[in-house]
Amino acid sequence: MEYFPQFVQKIEDDFVQIFEKSLTPALQLMSYYRCALMEVETKFKVLNEELSLSHDRNQIEHIKTRIKAPDSIRRKMRKLRIPLTVESIEKNIHDIAGIRIICQFVDDIYILADCLLSQDDVKLIERKDYIANPKESGYRSLHLIIEVPIFLHNEKRQMKVEVQLRTIAMDFWASLEHRLNYKKNIPRDKMDAITKELKNCAETSVWLDLKMQDIRDSIERLEKSEGV
Ligand code: GTP
Ligand code: MG
Repeated sequence: MEYFPQFVQKIEDDFVQIFEKSLTPALQLMSYYRCALMEVETKFKVLNEELSLSHDRNQIEHIKTRIKAPDSIRRKMRKLRIPLTVESIEKNIHDIAGIRIICQFVDDIYILADCLLSQDDVKLIERKDYIANPKESGYRSLHLIIEVPIFLHNEKRQMKVEVQLRTIAMDFWASLEHRLNYKKNIPRDKMDAITKELKNCAETSVWLDLKMQDIRDSIERLEKSEGV
């Protein structure tokens, strides 16, 4: 019985060791991703500030950032069959840090992406253009995986960030479709009917995006000719 306090102490010491060995590096890595998001968000805000002067409107409607939740990270690691270690998260998962840029018009998406990628500290890892090539579901967005440096007190680290650029219409569509994907107990026929309707809505949103851009161009031409 007199060994009991030492036994408890040993368990507590082991716990602190395990905690520090796995949790501290994980928290540190998540913090680096938050820093990378701050860097990329600032880059977009700077572009918006500058481009809004020359174009007389905001290129960016709004920006959302998120760090992938631990449970989603665990599920993705299982899906990819990669080792459940902190090193493997950084090496294999490219969307721990995510930033979504919502624009009014499709052409703004490409202007912003080109401006970002022309910066000499931004390295393009992967580009998926689901606007030119929408997914079967109807999903549209421009996806970039980039690497940016973060400057820590004693080192510079390259961090990966997933950038999704969309119009307001694409974002509206994707958030509703995402909700449907999380519903489990919808009967097959109802699910198929909603999927079909969403596909039709995706087509309507393509038309809407093009039309809005046309109307904007007409207004801008009128403003120029009238010298407004
Ligand atoms: P993930 O394992 O989901 O990251 O797939 P991936 O590596 O093939 O990447 P992809 O570029 O296809 O998609 C990444 C992200 O885009 C997803 O996490 C969603 O946020 C979004 N996305 C992709 N496809 C769809 C879709 O069909 N519907 C909706 N709502 N979102 C999508
Ligand atoms: Mg993802």
